[in-house]
Amino acid sequence: MPNPMITKPMSALLGEAADEKHGLKRALGALNLAMLGVGGIIGAGIFVLTGQAAAQYAGPAIVISFIISAIACAFAGLCYAEFASMIPIAGSAYTYAYATMGEFFAWIIGWDLVLEYLFGASTVAVGWSGYVVSFLADWGIHLPASIAQSPLLYDVATGWHRTGALINFPAMFIIGIITTLLVIGIKESASFNDIIVIIKVCVVMLFIAFGFKYIKPENWVPFIPPNDGTFGHFGWSGILRGAGVIFFAYIGFDAVSTAAQEAKNPQRDMPIGILGSLAACSVLYILVALVLTGVVKYDQLLVPDPMAVGVNAAGPGLFWLRPLIKLGAVAGLSSVILVMLLGQPRVFFSMAKDGLLPEIFATVHPRFRTPYVTTILTGVVAALFAGFFPIGILGEMVSIGTLLAFAIVCIGIIILRRTQPNANRPFRTPLVPLVPILGAAAAFGQMAGLPLGTWLRLIIWMALGLCLYWGYGRHHSKLGNPTRS
Ligand code: ALA
Repeated sequence: MPNPMITKPMSALLGEAADEKHGLKRALGALNLAMLGVGGIIGAGIFVLTGQAAAQYAGPAIVISFIISAIACAFAGLCYAEFASMIPIAGSAYTYAYATMGEFFAWIIGWDLVLEYLFGASTVAVGWSGYVVSFLADWGIHLPASIAQSPLLYDVATGWHRTGALINFPAMFIIGIITTLLVIGIKESASFNDIIVIIKVCVVMLFIAFGFKYIKPENWVPFIPPNDGTFGHFGWSGILRGAGVIFFAYIGFDAVSTAAQEAKNPQRDMPIGILGSLAACSVLYILVALVLTGVVKYDQLLVPDPMAVGVNAAGPGLFWLRPLIKLGAVAGLSSVILVMLLGQPRVFFSMAKDGLLPEIFATVHPRFRTPYVTTILTGVVAALFAGFFPIGILGEMVSIGTLLAFAIVCIGIIILRRTQPNANRPFRTPLVPLVPILGAAAAFGQMAGLPLGTWLRLIIWMALGLCLYWGYGRHHSKLGNPTRS
């Protein structure tokens, strides 16, 4: 009977990482990797959620929420950096769990990553669709709502409803375009990502630089609005809730680790890509939050486009920045979709290589050297979700799924330091076990703050995953059934 707790030996993992001939193409340098990180990070979080979190939970102290969330992500980022430099395999947290906690946990985390990457891509694609429709409307081009919205709507109180729309075509369109690009090549995808990342970072920096002059310090008073008697509504509890909400804005740096098998020098460049992108985006986010709450009173920020509202509040002197903010948001969301759709197939690819998914998923395109079967599969499923389903609920799943992966990676570092104390670690997480413990505690703490419904959906999702594992993966695992390999 296959042992579900079997762990994958480091020697096998390092052998796979070194298999250049039949594997993915090693084409990415440190800068490409950092750009992928920034590409995955800056998106709906900063362009949409910042204003809502400031208006509802933290006021100007959303700046402190951003600092807290950055520190929590840094703990996890340091652990990802150690693993990604040590085990440069495309499976990311799935592979790290296989090496440390065994096949069963690896499967759990691989299945969990679908919530982050595949659902994440669908969620952000729906946001992209909204921004593009409004961007086109500004130029006099009006897309009919019937082809730019989900046909279904879910309301917690009243259940499912039809919206009258047929399909969210723009959301499916962007997933189709990006999937095609990802099939054609990792280098091509990374170059496209570089361009849109430069656009969005420029827009964010313009907002900071020009918005700075329009700050009215009285908007920052009181910096921490007093709690209104309800937990999470301003005061310090509001700052914490704000940190939980804007955690979504930081998701994406971890996706760099799924490109480890395509990095030219993963030992050196993975930590640079993961930690460099996280550090750069943290600084930008904190500055955006400071400027935004400085130019406009926080209670006016409960809008889907807070940065545009900030520009409006600054007055005619900044009106030229308005279309650029929308352009930045469209670029930002595009690169997030790209990075998510890049991460998911590589996790599936690694799972298939291990036999936990059908072998066809491990096929690499003979010319493009991309995992094209899983890339197309991911694109089709993500497009269907984006085109037909209301994604609000799935959006919450992205955060809980990511936090679970962060916690497992942090715990994995402690385990591997014990089981493999002498393994070569090109990058070492500092202060082990303190940093991983704090990282895991921060992740579990934020998970605890998520609504019960999100937890229930996580449990249902995991139960589905377990059925697949017991029905297929366990019997086909190459490690668990050596005669099959
Ligand atoms: N961090 C990504 C975003 O904010 C997921 O869109």
